[in-house]
Amino acid sequence: MAARFSAAGYEVVPFGDACDAVIVHGCAITRNAERDSRRATRQARRFAPGAVVVMTGCPAEIPGDALRGDAAPDLIVGQAGKFTLPELLHSIHPGRFPAPSADPAAATPRFENTRALVKVQDGCEFRCAYCIVPAARGPSVSRPLEAIVDETRRLAACGFKEVVLTGANLGCYRDGARSLVDLVIAVEHVEGIARIRLSSIEMTTAERAIVDHMAVSDKLCRFLHVPLQSGDDGILAAMGRRYTADQYRRAAEYAVRRLPRLGLGTDIIVGFPGEDDDAFENTRKLVEDLPFGNLHVFPYSRRPGTRADAMPGQIPEPVKHRRVRSLLDLGTSKRSAFADSFAGKEVDVLIESVDTQGLGRGWTGEYLPAEVHGENIEVNSVLRRTVSQAKHGVLVCSVTRT
Ligand code: 5AD
Ligand code: SF4
Repeated sequence: MAARFSAAGYEVVPFGDACDAVIVHGCAITRNAERDSRRATRQARRFAPGAVVVMTGCPAEIPGDALRGDAAPDLIVGQAGKFTLPELLHSIHPGRFPAPSADPAAATPRFENTRALVKVQDGCEFRCAYCIVPAARGPSVSRPLEAIVDETRRLAACGFKEVVLTGANLGCYRDGARSLVDLVIAVEHVEGIARIRLSSIEMTTAERAIVDHMAVSDKLCRFLHVPLQSGDDGILAAMGRRYTADQYRRAAEYAVRRLPRLGLGTDIIVGFPGEDDDAFENTRKLVEDLPFGNLHVFPYSRRPGTRADAMPGQIPEPVKHRRVRSLLDLGTSKRSAFADSFAGKEVDVLIESVDTQGLGRGWTGEYLPAEVHGENIEVNSVLRRTVSQAKHGVLVCSVTRT
Protein backbone atom coordinates (compact mmCIF):
# COMPACT_ATOMS: atom_id res chain seq x y z
CA MET A 1 0.00 0.00 0.00
CA ALA A 2 2.81 2.38 0.90
CA ALA A 3 4.55 1.53 -2.37
CA ARG A 4 1.44 2.42 -4.36
CA PHE A 5 1.18 5.77 -2.65
CA SER A 6 4.85 6.46 -3.37
CA ALA A 7 4.40 5.46 -7.01
CA ALA A 8 1.36 7.72 -7.22
CA GLY A 9 3.48 10.70 -6.22
CA TYR A 10 2.66 10.85 -2.51
CA GLU A 11 5.11 11.20 0.31
CA VAL A 12 4.75 8.41 2.89
CA VAL A 13 5.54 9.67 6.41
CA PRO A 14 5.94 7.80 9.71
CA PHE A 15 2.86 7.08 11.80
CA GLY A 16 2.44 10.06 14.13
CA ASP A 17 3.52 12.77 11.65
CA ALA A 18 1.18 15.41 10.27
CA CYS A 19 -0.37 14.23 6.99
CA ASP A 20 -3.45 14.32 4.75
CA ALA A 21 -4.51 10.70 5.00
CA VAL A 22 -3.90 7.98 7.55
CA ILE A 23 -4.32 4.38 6.45
CA VAL A 24 -4.87 1.95 9.31
CA HIS A 25 -4.18 -1.58 8.10
CA GLY A 26 -5.98 -3.27 10.94
CA CYS A 27 -6.32 -6.80 12.22
CA ALA A 28 -9.37 -8.52 13.68
CA ILE A 29 -8.08 -12.00 14.48
CA THR A 30 -8.66 -11.44 18.21
CA ARG A 31 -10.42 -8.84 20.33
CA ASN A 32 -7.06 -7.39 21.31
CA ALA A 33 -6.04 -7.00 17.69
CA GLU A 34 -9.29 -5.21 16.93
CA ARG A 35 -8.79 -2.95 19.94
CA ASP A 36 -5.30 -2.04 18.70
CA SER A 37 -6.74 -1.18 15.29
CA ARG A 38 -9.31 1.07 16.96
CA ARG A 39 -6.61 2.71 19.05
CA ALA A 40 -4.63 3.52 15.90
CA THR A 41 -7.65 5.31 14.41
CA ARG A 42 -8.15 7.27 17.59
CA GLN A 43 -4.47 8.29 17.68
CA ALA A 44 -4.71 9.35 14.05
CA ARG A 45 -7.53 11.76 14.91
CA ARG A 46 -5.21 13.37 17.45
CA PHE A 47 -1.97 13.72 15.52
CA ALA A 48 -3.56 14.46 12.14
CA PRO A 49 -6.81 16.31 12.97
CA GLY A 50 -7.84 17.21 9.43
CA ALA A 51 -6.70 13.97 7.75
CA VAL A 52 -8.93 11.43 6.06
CA VAL A 53 -8.71 8.33 8.24
CA VAL A 54 -9.10 5.03 6.39
CA MET A 55 -9.62 1.65 8.00
CA THR A 56 -8.66 -1.33 5.88
CA GLY A 57 -7.72 -4.96 6.51
CA CYS A 58 -10.03 -7.41 8.27
CA PRO A 59 -11.68 -4.89 10.65
CA ALA A 60 -13.13 -3.26 7.52
CA GLU A 61 -14.77 -6.54 6.55
CA ILE A 62 -16.69 -7.32 9.72
CA PRO A 63 -19.19 -5.24 11.69
CA GLY A 64 -16.93 -4.79 14.71
CA ASP A 65 -16.08 -2.10 17.24
CA ALA A 66 -13.24 -0.74 15.14
CA LEU A 67 -15.78 0.95 12.87
CA ARG A 68 -17.99 2.57 15.51
CA GLY A 69 -18.04 5.31 18.11
CA ASP A 70 -15.24 7.81 18.62
CA ALA A 71 -12.88 5.59 16.63
CA ALA A 72 -15.09 5.48 13.52
CA PRO A 73 -12.93 5.99 10.41
CA ASP A 74 -13.92 8.32 7.57
CA LEU A 75 -13.59 5.54 5.02
CA ILE A 76 -13.88 1.80 5.31
CA VAL A 77 -12.02 -0.01 2.54
CA GLY A 78 -12.24 -3.79 2.15
CA GLN A 79 -9.68 -6.23 0.80
CA ALA A 80 -10.67 -5.54 -2.78
CA GLY A 81 -9.93 -1.83 -2.58
CA LYS A 82 -6.86 -1.65 -0.43
CA PHE A 83 -4.29 -1.70 -3.22
CA THR A 84 -5.91 1.15 -5.15
CA LEU A 85 -6.24 3.64 -2.31
CA PRO A 86 -4.64 6.58 -4.17
CA GLU A 87 -7.26 6.22 -6.92
CA LEU A 88 -10.03 5.90 -4.35
CA LEU A 89 -8.99 8.99 -2.38
CA HIS A 90 -8.77 10.97 -5.59
CA SER A 91 -12.22 9.87 -6.72
CA ILE A 92 -13.76 10.92 -3.40
CA HIS A 93 -11.83 14.16 -2.78
CA PRO A 94 -10.44 15.20 -6.19
CA GLY A 95 -9.58 18.70 -4.92
CA ARG A 96 -7.52 17.45 -2.04
CA PHE A 97 -5.92 14.30 -3.46
CA PRO A 98 -4.44 14.71 -6.94
CA ALA A 99 -4.84 12.06 -9.59
CA PRO A 100 -2.24 9.32 -9.13
CA SER A 101 0.67 9.92 -11.44
CA ALA A 102 1.82 6.37 -12.13
CA ASP A 103 0.62 2.90 -13.01
CA PRO A 104 -0.12 1.19 -9.68
CA ALA A 105 1.33 -2.07 -11.00
CA ALA A 106 4.69 -0.35 -11.31
CA ALA A 107 4.87 0.35 -7.58
CA THR A 108 8.04 -1.00 -6.05
CA PRO A 109 8.22 -1.43 -2.31
CA ARG A 110 10.51 0.66 -0.21
CA PHE A 111 13.51 -1.18 1.09
CA GLU A 112 12.72 -1.08 4.81
CA ASN A 113 13.21 -4.70 5.47
CA THR A 114 15.35 -7.32 3.80
CA ARG A 115 12.39 -9.64 3.46
CA ALA A 116 9.65 -8.96 0.95
CA LEU A 117 6.20 -10.39 1.59
CA VAL A 118 4.43 -11.72 -1.48
CA LYS A 119 0.79 -12.52 -1.08
CA VAL A 120 -0.03 -15.50 -3.28
CA GLN A 121 -3.47 -16.41 -2.02
CA ASP A 122 -6.21 -14.99 0.17
CA GLY A 123 -9.28 -16.35 1.93
CA CYS A 124 -10.06 -19.60 3.67
CA GLU A 125 -12.90 -22.10 3.64
CA PHE A 126 -11.80 -24.24 6.57
CA ARG A 127 -14.14 -22.51 9.00
CA CYS A 128 -12.46 -23.40 12.26
CA ALA A 129 -14.98 -22.73 15.03
CA TYR A 130 -13.03 -19.85 16.63
CA CYS A 131 -11.89 -18.09 13.49
CA ILE A 132 -13.10 -14.85 11.91
CA VAL A 133 -10.89 -15.17 8.81
CA PRO A 134 -13.42 -17.00 6.58
CA ALA A 135 -15.99 -14.26 7.35
CA ALA A 136 -13.49 -11.45 6.83
CA ARG A 137 -11.64 -12.77 3.81
CA GLY A 138 -14.14 -15.03 2.04
CA PRO A 139 -13.27 -18.19 0.10
CA SER A 140 -9.78 -19.11 -1.07
CA VAL A 141 -8.63 -17.24 -4.17
CA SER A 142 -5.12 -17.66 -5.63
CA ARG A 143 -3.18 -15.27 -7.81
CA PRO A 144 -1.96 -16.55 -11.18
CA LEU A 145 1.48 -18.14 -10.91
CA GLU A 146 2.94 -15.94 -13.65
CA ALA A 147 1.79 -12.76 -11.89
CA ILE A 148 3.55 -13.87 -8.71
CA VAL A 149 6.74 -14.71 -10.59
CA ASP A 150 6.62 -11.27 -12.26
CA GLU A 151 6.24 -9.58 -8.89
CA THR A 152 9.15 -11.58 -7.52
CA ARG A 153 11.27 -10.48 -10.48
CA ARG A 154 10.48 -6.85 -9.70
CA LEU A 155 11.39 -7.42 -6.05
CA ALA A 156 14.68 -9.04 -7.06
CA ALA A 157 15.40 -6.05 -9.31
CA CYS A 158 14.87 -3.78 -6.25
CA GLY A 159 17.50 -5.81 -4.42
CA PHE A 160 15.40 -8.12 -2.29
CA LYS A 161 17.10 -11.45 -1.61
CA GLU A 162 14.39 -13.11 0.40
CA VAL A 163 10.71 -13.44 -0.40
CA VAL A 164 8.11 -14.75 2.01
CA LEU A 165 5.12 -16.37 0.32
CA THR A 166 2.03 -15.53 2.32
CA GLY A 167 -1.67 -16.32 2.23
CA ALA A 168 -4.61 -16.67 4.61
CA ASN A 169 -4.44 -20.42 3.94
CA LEU A 170 -1.22 -20.71 1.97
CA GLY A 171 -1.36 -24.47 1.31
CA CYS A 172 -4.63 -23.97 -0.58
CA TYR A 173 -2.65 -22.21 -3.33
CA ARG A 174 -3.70 -23.46 -6.77
CA ASP A 175 -3.31 -22.22 -10.31
CA GLY A 176 -5.05 -24.85 -12.41
CA ALA A 177 -3.18 -28.05 -11.70
CA ARG A 178 -0.23 -26.17 -10.24
CA SER A 179 0.16 -26.16 -6.47
CA LEU A 180 2.37 -24.41 -3.94
CA VAL A 181 5.39 -26.61 -4.74
CA ASP A 182 5.14 -25.66 -8.41
CA LEU A 183 4.99 -22.01 -7.39
CA VAL A 184 8.05 -22.38 -5.17
CA ILE A 185 9.98 -24.01 -8.01
CA ALA A 186 8.99 -21.21 -10.39
CA VAL A 187 10.13 -18.56 -7.89
CA GLU A 188 13.40 -20.43 -7.35
CA HIS A 189 14.24 -19.72 -10.98
CA VAL A 190 14.04 -15.96 -10.47
CA GLU A 191 17.57 -14.63 -10.59
CA GLY A 192 18.65 -12.71 -7.51
CA ILE A 193 16.28 -14.39 -5.07
CA ALA A 194 18.48 -16.28 -2.62
CA ARG A 195 15.83 -17.55 -0.27
CA ILE A 196 12.16 -18.31 -0.26
CA ARG A 197 10.25 -18.69 2.97
CA LEU A 198 6.78 -20.07 3.49
CA SER A 199 4.60 -18.28 6.00
CA SER A 200 2.17 -20.17 8.21
CA ILE A 201 0.76 -23.30 6.55
CA GLU A 202 -1.95 -25.74 7.62
CA MET A 203 -0.80 -29.25 8.43
CA THR A 204 -3.39 -30.88 6.20
CA THR A 205 -2.18 -28.84 3.24
CA ALA A 206 1.58 -29.03 3.95
CA GLU A 207 1.89 -32.14 1.86
CA ARG A 208 4.96 -34.29 1.99
CA ALA A 209 5.84 -32.88 -1.41
CA ILE A 210 6.65 -29.56 0.26
CA VAL A 211 8.81 -31.15 2.93
CA ASP A 212 10.51 -33.34 0.33
CA HIS A 213 11.22 -30.33 -1.85
CA MET A 214 12.63 -28.44 1.14
CA ALA A 215 15.09 -31.29 1.63
CA VAL A 216 16.56 -30.87 -1.86
CA SER A 217 16.12 -27.14 -2.50
CA ASP A 218 18.96 -24.71 -1.86
CA LYS A 219 16.57 -21.74 -1.77
CA LEU A 220 13.48 -22.88 0.11
CA CYS A 221 14.22 -22.19 3.79
CA ARG A 222 14.08 -25.15 6.11
CA PHE A 223 11.36 -23.53 8.11
CA LEU A 224 7.75 -24.54 8.68
CA HIS A 225 5.22 -22.69 10.77
CA VAL A 226 2.34 -25.13 11.18
CA PRO A 227 -0.48 -24.09 13.53
CA LEU A 228 -1.32 -26.83 16.04
CA GLN A 229 -3.90 -24.88 18.12
CA SER A 230 -4.40 -27.78 20.55
CA GLY A 231 -2.88 -31.15 21.35
CA ASP A 232 -6.16 -32.58 22.60
CA ASP A 233 -8.37 -34.58 20.24
CA GLY A 234 -11.63 -33.45 21.86
CA ILE A 235 -10.68 -29.78 21.57
CA LEU A 236 -9.33 -30.24 18.03
CA ALA A 237 -12.66 -31.77 17.01
CA ALA A 238 -14.64 -28.98 18.71
CA MET A 239 -12.43 -26.45 16.94
CA GLY A 240 -13.24 -28.12 13.63
CA ARG A 241 -9.56 -28.77 12.93
CA ARG A 242 -8.93 -31.44 10.33
CA TYR A 243 -6.43 -33.66 12.14
CA THR A 244 -5.85 -35.48 15.40
CA ALA A 245 -2.98 -34.80 17.78
CA ASP A 246 -1.34 -38.02 16.63
CA GLN A 247 -1.59 -37.09 12.95
CA TYR A 248 0.06 -33.77 13.72
CA ARG A 249 2.79 -35.47 15.73
CA ARG A 250 3.52 -37.87 12.88
CA ALA A 251 3.58 -35.15 10.24
CA ALA A 252 5.98 -33.10 12.37
CA GLU A 253 8.16 -36.12 13.02
CA TYR A 254 8.33 -36.88 9.29
CA ALA A 255 9.38 -33.29 8.56
CA VAL A 256 12.03 -33.30 11.27
CA ARG A 257 13.40 -36.65 10.06
CA ARG A 258 13.67 -35.36 6.47
CA LEU A 259 15.02 -31.96 7.58
CA PRO A 260 17.14 -32.48 10.69
CA ARG A 261 17.64 -28.80 11.53
CA LEU A 262 14.16 -27.70 10.52
CA GLY A 263 12.94 -24.48 12.13
CA LEU A 264 9.52 -25.60 13.31
CA GLY A 265 7.03 -23.07 14.62
CA THR A 266 3.42 -23.25 15.67
CA ASP A 267 0.38 -21.37 16.98
CA ILE A 268 -1.52 -22.54 20.02
CA ILE A 269 -4.87 -21.32 21.33
CA VAL A 270 -5.41 -21.86 25.04
CA GLY A 271 -8.72 -21.61 26.85
CA PHE A 272 -10.93 -22.72 23.96
CA PRO A 273 -14.46 -23.48 25.31
CA GLY A 274 -14.44 -26.81 27.14
CA GLU A 275 -10.66 -26.95 27.58
CA ASP A 276 -10.21 -28.55 31.00
CA ASP A 277 -6.90 -29.16 32.79
CA ASP A 278 -6.45 -32.56 31.15
CA ALA A 279 -7.02 -31.15 27.68
CA PHE A 280 -4.51 -28.38 28.34
CA GLU A 281 -2.04 -30.92 29.67
CA ASN A 282 -2.33 -32.87 26.39
CA THR A 283 -1.38 -29.71 24.53
CA ARG A 284 1.52 -28.96 26.86
CA LYS A 285 2.82 -32.51 26.51
CA LEU A 286 2.69 -32.50 22.72
CA VAL A 287 4.47 -29.14 22.61
CA GLU A 288 7.10 -30.50 24.97
CA ASP A 289 7.66 -33.58 22.78
CA LEU A 290 8.16 -31.80 19.45
CA PRO A 291 11.24 -29.69 18.65
CA PHE A 292 9.49 -26.35 18.25
CA GLY A 293 11.83 -23.38 17.89
CA ASN A 294 9.03 -20.86 17.87
CA LEU A 295 5.70 -20.79 19.67
CA HIS A 296 2.89 -18.26 19.27
CA VAL A 297 0.44 -18.60 22.13
CA PHE A 298 -2.99 -16.95 22.00
CA PRO A 299 -5.59 -16.80 24.74
CA TYR A 300 -8.86 -17.80 23.07
CA SER A 301 -10.77 -14.69 22.05
CA ARG A 302 -14.51 -14.76 21.37
CA ARG A 303 -15.26 -13.55 17.88
CA PRO A 304 -18.90 -12.55 17.29
CA GLY A 305 -20.59 -14.72 14.69
CA THR A 306 -18.22 -17.67 15.01
CA ARG A 307 -19.47 -21.07 16.22
CA ALA A 308 -17.21 -21.11 19.26
CA ASP A 309 -18.64 -17.83 20.51
CA ALA A 310 -21.92 -19.63 21.20
CA MET A 311 -20.34 -22.71 22.79
CA PRO A 312 -20.84 -23.56 26.46
CA GLY A 313 -17.84 -24.00 28.74
CA GLN A 314 -16.17 -20.64 28.13
CA ILE A 315 -12.97 -20.46 30.18
CA PRO A 316 -12.36 -17.65 32.72
CA GLU A 317 -9.67 -15.15 31.71
CA PRO A 318 -7.34 -15.87 34.67
CA VAL A 319 -7.23 -19.56 33.71
CA LYS A 320 -6.43 -18.64 30.12
CA HIS A 321 -3.62 -16.40 31.27
CA ARG A 322 -2.12 -19.04 33.53
CA ARG A 323 -2.05 -21.40 30.58
CA VAL A 324 -0.58 -18.77 28.27
CA ARG A 325 2.21 -18.15 30.80
CA SER A 326 2.95 -21.82 31.18
CA LEU A 327 3.26 -22.35 27.40
CA LEU A 328 5.27 -19.17 26.88
CA ASP A 329 7.79 -20.37 29.49
CA LEU A 330 7.96 -23.73 27.77
CA GLY A 331 8.36 -21.95 24.43
CA THR A 332 11.31 -19.93 25.72
CA SER A 333 13.17 -22.99 26.94
CA LYS A 334 12.43 -24.88 23.72
CA ARG A 335 13.69 -21.95 21.68
CA SER A 336 16.94 -21.90 23.64
CA ALA A 337 17.37 -25.65 23.30
CA PHE A 338 16.79 -25.40 19.55
CA ALA A 339 19.30 -22.55 19.24
CA ASP A 340 21.85 -24.40 21.40
CA SER A 341 21.69 -27.35 19.00
CA PHE A 342 23.31 -25.11 16.33
CA ALA A 343 26.62 -24.66 18.18
CA GLY A 344 29.44 -25.63 15.83
CA LYS A 345 27.12 -25.83 12.80
CA GLU A 346 27.07 -23.64 9.73
CA VAL A 347 24.18 -21.27 9.06
CA ASP A 348 23.30 -18.73 6.38
CA VAL A 349 22.43 -15.34 7.83
CA LEU A 350 20.62 -12.64 5.89
CA ILE A 351 21.89 -9.43 7.51
CA GLU A 352 19.11 -6.98 8.37
CA SER A 353 21.05 -4.35 10.27
CA VAL A 354 24.59 -3.39 11.22
CA ASP A 355 25.17 -1.34 14.37
CA THR A 356 27.75 1.39 14.95
CA GLN A 357 30.22 -1.20 16.23
CA GLY A 358 29.90 -3.14 12.99
CA LEU A 359 27.93 -6.00 14.52
CA GLY A 360 25.52 -7.49 12.02
CA ARG A 361 22.12 -8.86 12.98
CA GLY A 362 19.83 -10.98 10.91
CA TRP A 363 17.99 -14.25 10.52
CA THR A 364 19.05 -17.71 9.52
CA GLY A 365 17.06 -19.75 7.05
CA GLU A 366 15.61 -21.66 10.01
CA TYR A 367 14.39 -18.32 11.34
CA LEU A 368 16.71 -18.03 14.27
CA PRO A 369 18.05 -14.59 15.12
CA ALA A 370 21.81 -14.37 14.64
CA GLU A 371 24.61 -11.92 15.44
CA VAL A 372 27.54 -11.84 13.08
CA HIS A 373 30.86 -10.38 14.18
CA GLY A 374 33.52 -9.48 11.66
CA GLU A 375 34.76 -6.90 9.21
CA ASN A 376 32.76 -5.13 6.53
CA ILE A 377 29.40 -6.71 7.16
CA GLU A 378 26.79 -5.34 4.81
CA VAL A 379 23.05 -5.09 5.17
CA ASN A 380 21.17 -7.43 2.81
CA SER A 381 24.06 -9.83 2.30
CA VAL A 382 23.68 -13.54 2.96
CA LEU A 383 26.68 -14.76 4.96
CA ARG A 384 27.61 -18.36 5.69
CA ARG A 385 29.01 -18.58 9.19
CA THR A 386 29.79 -21.13 11.86
CA VAL A 387 27.85 -20.70 15.09
CA SER A 388 30.18 -20.38 18.07
CA GLN A 389 27.44 -20.41 20.68
CA ALA A 390 23.82 -19.50 21.30
CA LYS A 391 22.86 -16.89 23.89
CA HIS A 392 19.23 -16.90 25.02
CA GLY A 393 18.08 -18.19 21.68
CA VAL A 394 20.31 -15.89 19.59
CA LEU A 395 23.09 -17.48 17.53
CA VAL A 396 26.48 -15.85 17.90
CA CYS A 397 28.67 -16.29 14.83
CA SER A 398 32.21 -15.06 14.98
CA VAL A 399 34.27 -17.33 12.78
CA THR A 400 34.70 -15.54 9.47
CA ARG A 401 34.73 -17.57 6.31
CA THR A 402 34.53 -16.43 2.75
N1 5AD B 1 -8.74 -16.48 19.51
C1 5AD B 1 -7.42 -16.65 19.75
N2 5AD B 1 -6.54 -16.93 18.79
C2 5AD B 1 -6.99 -17.01 17.52
N3 5AD B 1 -6.36 -17.28 16.38
C3 5AD B 1 -7.25 -17.25 15.36
N4 5AD B 1 -8.48 -16.97 15.86
C4 5AD B 1 -8.34 -16.83 17.19
C5 5AD B 1 -9.23 -16.55 18.26
N5 5AD B 1 -10.55 -16.38 18.05
C6 5AD B 1 -4.93 -17.56 16.29
C7 5AD B 1 -4.68 -18.98 15.77
C8 5AD B 1 -4.15 -18.73 14.39
C9 5AD B 1 -3.44 -17.42 14.59
C10 5AD B 1 -3.11 -16.67 13.35
O1 5AD B 1 -4.33 -16.68 15.39
O2 5AD B 1 -3.70 -19.61 16.57
O3 5AD B 1 -3.29 -19.75 13.94
FE1 SF4 C 1 -8.90 -19.58 10.36
FE2 SF4 C 1 -6.66 -20.88 9.64
FE3 SF4 C 1 -8.89 -22.27 10.36
FE4 SF4 C 1 -8.82 -20.90 8.03
S1 SF4 C 1 -7.55 -22.70 8.60
S2 SF4 C 1 -10.51 -20.93 9.51
S3 SF4 C 1 -7.60 -19.09 8.58
S4 SF4 C 1 -7.62 -20.92 11.67
